[in-house]
Amino acid sequence: TKIAVFASGSGSNFQAIQEAILNGKLNAVIELVVTDKPNAFVIKRAENFNIPVFTFTPKSYESKAAYEQEIVNVLLEKEVEWIVLAGYMRLIGGTLLSAFANRIVNIHPSLLPSFPGKDAIGQAMDHGVKITGVTVHFVDEGMDTGTILAQAAVEVVDGNRAATEERIHMIEHELYTKTLSRLFEK
Ligand code: GRF
Repeated sequence: TKIAVFASGSGSNFQAIQEAILNGKLNAVIELVVTDKPNAFVIKRAENFNIPVFTFTPKSYESKAAYEQEIVNVLLEKEVEWIVLAGYMRLIGGTLLSAFANRIVNIHPSLLPSFPGKDAIGQAMDHGVKITGVTVHFVDEGMDTGTILAQAAVEVVDGNRAATEERIHMIEHELYTKTLSRLFEK
């Protein structure tokens, strides 16, 4: 299965997916990393694996439709079948959604529908929940609203955001690779 990973930040989920592929746990090839942040650490990680990166700056386009159309063109040229969002901090618009209908997945660091949007871990801790978690879901036009594919619970480490975040990331890496391998078998 040919995939593209979209990321705006560190890219630890990208790396976990690529390592699962190299270890034979996931039947896929990352054809391209797509990022909207020219300084994102994910670019370094991709270079380490010799995976091409498409970097774009949204501001230099007239509209979301315009940059998404360019992304669609690049993805079609590479025969990408699935889009895997991994810390991509932009809402997906109609152009990408219609070109990849039911072929876009995302991972979110909470038990959706609780705490959608930015800083879900901070939101959960501010709320004082004792258990939070991770959700893998299909992407639709909403913010973290698509059909849920898999979830896992994570216990909050009281008052310790860094430790909670570390637990969540570990679970994310496991859950994302497992869920993707299930999806790509079909
Ligand atoms: C993850 O927590 C993911 O759930 C969220 O953004 C974060 C990305 O982390 N959507 P990384 O860039 O994969 O390390």
